[in-house]
Amino acid sequence: MRFSHFSILALSGLSLASPVLERRADAVSLLTDLYATIQTYTGAINATLAPLSVSSSPLEKAAALTDVGASLSSITDALKAATSSVKAITPGSASKRSALSPSTIDAQAEPVAKRQLVEVGVILALILVELFATIAGAIAILGLAGLLVFLNPLTSALALLILAVEVLVDALLIAVIVLLDTLLTGLAIGIGGL
Ligand SMILES: *[C@@H]1O[C@H](CO)[C@@H](O)[C@H](O)[C@H]1NC(C)=O
Repeated sequence: MRFSHFSILALSGLSLASPVLERRADAVSLLTDLYATIQTYTGAINATLAPLSVSSSPLEKAAALTDVGASLSSITDALKAATSSVKAITPGSASKRSALSPSTIDAQAEPVAKRQLVEVGVILALILVELFATIAGAIAILGLAGLLVFLNPLTSALALLILAVEVLVDALLIAVIVLLDTLLTGLAIGIGGL
């Protein structure tokens, strides 16, 4: 008797929490796809840069800049598309959403919800590191000036994606924001050093 009562409570708790779990699972798979897409473009950028060095001719660098710029624009497009997908699976406005699916997560579902949130943070961190390591390589060879026109839209698309993911998973991703800030600052320090 006591057991079945507990089971029903646990089940209803899970079903209440499941919209949050589902959204986080969606976020994980969406970001995993995005990471794979981004790697095809960063791979292309690396391949373009591979035969070059700082002392390559201006003509070679100009040709590389065109290719790298195109890949960076494709990454920006991929980030924007992912942001649209994230928004599309985010139900309603913030107030409506919290009314439909409470963000309070049942104790039973909490470990799953936490693990999902960690996964979302880890994939976003992988994406950030992949992007900035590749961008740093491009800046080292091609210089920042020519790349800025591609980097500005990319970084704002990145910030908008993180914002949209935060709304979707119903949690702040402080560590991811700190990482983004650190990477951007690192780039700025690199700029100062040039
Ligand atoms: C491209 O190069 C950067 C810098 O070495 C590296 O971090 C990144 O993983 C590389 N990406 C691919 C897909 O090769």
